Amino acid sequence: MDFINKLKLNQVQKKHISEINERVSDVFPPDLYEHTISTLFYSEKLAGSYILKDGNMDYENFQTDQIAYYKLCMVALLHDYGKIFNFEKLKEVALKNNDRIDAVREDFDINSILHGFAGAFIVKDEFNIDDEEILKSIMYHTTGYCNMNIADKIIYVSDKIEERRNYREVYYLRELSLKNINLCLLEVYKNNIIYIIKNNKNIYSNTFNIWNNICKLYGGLTDGSRR
Ligand SMILES: [Fe+2]
Ligand SMILES: [Fe+2]
Repeated sequence: MDFINKLKLNQVQKKHISEINERVSDVFPPDLYEHTISTLFYSEKLAGSYILKDGNMDYENFQTDQIAYYKLCMVALLHDYGKIFNFEKLKEVALKNNDRIDAVREDFDINSILHGFAGAFIVKDEFNIDDEEILKSIMYHTTGYCNMNIADKIIYVSDKIEERRNYREVYYLRELSLKNINLCLLEVYKNNIIYIIKNNKNIYSNTFNIWNNICKLYGGLTDGSRR
């Protein structure tokens, strides 16, 4: 796969990513696979600015940042793996692991977030991935959590503004993502809350705390051009 060769990974990492890619491409419907790859591309682009420091390979934290980048690629490919399972199966997995998910029972009835909660445990079993950071990132990719790390901010944002997404604010959000990831997170999160309310959808029980946390950290930021 050409795009895998272009990722800033070593040969062993590329082989692993390639295996994951083959598996997901076999089982994902075309639309979901295209969204997955598009999320990977967007995450990779943001990682170049915020994790790998514009591809500069010669700096102090390169080893840890390279691992963060590798994990980000895995999460991008697997974040929606839960979506190929039906609601009953996802709910069963979530209930079985409910003590390890930061949610109340009612949250497990919200279809749009359940695939993340349950998907993390399914990925753990089916792909033998035990890394807690990867599983946490998959688990909360649609909800976010308080004090998100840079890789999880990138996944959260990329999932919602990847190049296949098409809604009024997406062009501004893409621009912002390259200028200031924290401000972009705030704007994407806000956008998501507005969407949920406008469409009469149920809201995740922790959204209040997460929004307050994001506001406290980044509410005073400005991108210098709009707002
Ligand atoms: Fe998702
Ligand atoms: Fe997604």
